[in-house]
Parts: sequence; C-alpha cells; structure tokens
Amino acid sequence: MKSSFGIAVVGCGTVGNATAVLLLSEKDNYLKKTGKELKITALVDVNFDRAREEGLPETIFNEDLASVLSDEKVHLIVETVGGLTIARTIIEKALKAGKHVVTANKALLAHYGTELFALARKNGVSIGFEASCAGGIPIVRALVDGLLANNIEAIYGIVNGTSNFILTEMVEKGKTYAEALKMAQAEGLAEADPTLDVNGMDAAHKLTLLGSLAFGENIPLEDIPTEGIDGLDLFDVSMGNSLGYVLKLIALGRKTDKGLELAVKPVFLPDNHPLARVSGPFNAVSVYGSAVGHTMYYGRGAGGSPTASAVVSDILSIALGTWPALFSTLNIWPDRSEKAQLADSGESVHRHYLRFMIQDESGVVAEITAALAAKGISLNAFVQKESHKSNLVPVVITTHEAREKDISEAFEAITALPSVDNKTAVRLRIIDEHIESL
Ligand code: HSE
Repeated sequence: MKSSFGIAVVGCGTVGNATAVLLLSEKDNYLKKTGKELKITALVDVNFDRAREEGLPETIFNEDLASVLSDEKVHLIVETVGGLTIARTIIEKALKAGKHVVTANKALLAHYGTELFALARKNGVSIGFEASCAGGIPIVRALVDGLLANNIEAIYGIVNGTSNFILTEMVEKGKTYAEALKMAQAEGLAEADPTLDVNGMDAAHKLTLLGSLAFGENIPLEDIPTEGIDGLDLFDVSMGNSLGYVLKLIALGRKTDKGLELAVKPVFLPDNHPLARVSGPFNAVSVYGSAVGHTMYYGRGAGGSPTASAVVSDILSIALGTWPALFSTLNIWPDRSEKAQLADSGESVHRHYLRFMIQDESGVVAEITAALAAKGISLNAFVQKESHKSNLVPVVITTHEAREKDISEAFEAITALPSVDNKTAVRLRIIDEHIESL
C-alpha cells in the first residue's frame, strides 16, 4: 500500500540542495522500491539563490520554520544548516515537535549528541546521522547493523577528505600546502571554517561518533588526542615516501586490555597498507571485527551528491521503520552507554619516524643514538644526507617498536642537545596493519 512521508529540508547549501534534488528526481524509484512516497514539502531558508540555480521548484521554498514544525504532514526534518548554534535549536525544536531528524552535522553531534539522542528518545523519534561520518559511505549502518555480530577490535579511518586531498596533491603533484587547500575549498570538500579540516578536529568529531558505536562506549570529544596536518613539512612527507611510507591523517580507535586507545594524527603507513592507497578526496574506514576480521569501506566522504545519498538513505530507513527500530532498541548509543575507559597513551607500542636538524659536527649522531639506546629503542633505518647549503643537516631515523613514553623521553633528551635544533624536530608514528584476530 502506498503511504506518504513528509519531509522538510532546513538549509539550502550544498547538501540541502543536493538532498532536495535527489528526493525529487528519484521519487518514483523510491516509491517502486519501498512503497513509500517521499514528499518534500518545504525547503527552509532565507535565501534561495542557490536553490534556484539548481532548478528546485519555488513552490517548496519556505522562510517560516515554525509553520513547518507545526505541519502534521511533515514527519521528518533534515538539518543541513551546520554549526553548533542555530542547528542545535532547529533540531531540538523538531524533536520536541515529534519529528524525526536527519543531519550531516558531525560537529554538533560530537558536542551535544548524547543530549540530542536522549531528547529524541523522550519524544519517541530518532536521529539519522549517516551523512555526518564519511559522507556517502554507509559506515554508521555497518557498525550498528551489518557488523553487530562482532566485538569490534579496531577502527582506522581516513575520514577527512580535505586533508587527504591536500596530502595527495602535495605528494603526487608537488602543490604547496596553500595551493592544495584552496583547491579542496573549490571542490566543495572543506568545512566553512577549513581550520577544522586541517587541525584534525573534523576527523575527531567523526571518531567520537564512530568509536562510540563501534565499541559501545561513550567517547567524549575531549578524550581524543588530536593533531592535524597543518604543522607538517613537505620534507618529511617526501622522505617517508622514499622509505616506503605514505603519510595519512588517521582517526584510530583500538581496544587494548588496558582500555581504548584513541587518536587523530598524521601517521606513516607502509605503502602496501590498505589505507595507503586511498587518495584525493576519498575516505575509507577499516573495521576489524572479532568474527569477520578485516573489513573496509571506501567512497566519497564529502560533496553534495554523495552526502545526499546518505541523507536520503536515512530518510528511507526512517520511513520504513528500520532506523527507528535500531535507534530505540540497541544499547550502543552514546546516551545509553558507559563512558569509555581509556588506555594510558604512554604505554602504547609503535614504530616511529624521527627527524632532527643537527649541527654537522663530530659526535652528534653518537649522542642521538645513545639517547635512543638509553631507552632501549632500536633503530630500523638511519638516513643522513649531505648538506652544502646550511650547517644544519637532516637526520632521519625509523625505529623498531617502542613504548610511546620511551620515545617521548628519548625525543626530549635529543632535542635538549646543544647540537640539535629543538624547533624543527619531527616525530611521527608508523602504523603497520592491525593483526586480524581470526
Ligand atoms: N570537510 C569534510 C571533509 C566534509 O573534508 O571530509 C565531510 O564531512
């Protein structure tokens, strides 16, 4: 039997417009596939210039949010306004009015998701947020449904398309950081404030959500140590390449017997690592499950149409009742789970890439290797190139596995040496592929 499901899209920027276009262009197809007639009744904003450019019909343009919220024929509000203020008010009002909500707003959910999920529950509705993490990739659905049979042991993601695009342009096309960032903005990948992309915060927003669902524990945003790509030097990116590594901004969550290890940081991956091949604007998430082993999800993490794909799939799932059933029954949502127990990051064991600018003098290298040996750290590679331009020469070291705490202490001891420049020293983690538990 055909049944009609009313939708209002609030905010007509890139994602809002793309959602409206998709809802209208695929309406018949959705009806055929699901028996549900998805009916967009309003596109709410104060400026419709871009919506007009997209050819959206004037009949759905509406400046009056209150009238939309009191309209009984509207069952669901899509929030595509973004940010932490107006968007929050819109979602709260919609939930209180008994409307389901679909949003792509990872920053808002990372900060206030726990409260908003609880508010939705109180009002007997649900929040769909597939579009908030890795754009068009159905990673939320994989975690809360397709992988439910597993204990999730680790999740590693390239979840910020802007950073990945910038790194790829720098490495493969020799673009400067500034040129590559400008291109990412022109491609519509970057946030309104691109600082959040390049300082790792956007990836941390997504890790808060994905990690909470993967591990069934509430991960507060402030518990994620976060670094971005904004402090990187092209020298290290290229040097890593020549040693067989690819630099990626990774969001990682890993279960250890001492608690969860979480981080967003630029890391070197061996060039045969599955995530090393993910380049340009693409995102990918590797999930390691106790029964399934390694699974990987790949696709476009940003942009109007890929994000609208996730938004409209959420709408369909809500119209069908699938998502509300998962939302109301599972206990893995941040408002229903315990606060995550975190592992001591100093105890985490990894290989490292170290780079120091040193005075070209006798005995300096011996002092560096002595500082590493004093902490029991073994060297894997050692590279020093001749320099004829300056009296400072770069020394690059990769280590075997060592505790983070020992690496930190050795690094501090080395940068305190008078012959080592303490402003330009670099330390990056190397991540080998997670061992499958099969
Ligand atoms: N700015 C984000 C990115 C968009 O670059 O991945 C999608 O969340």
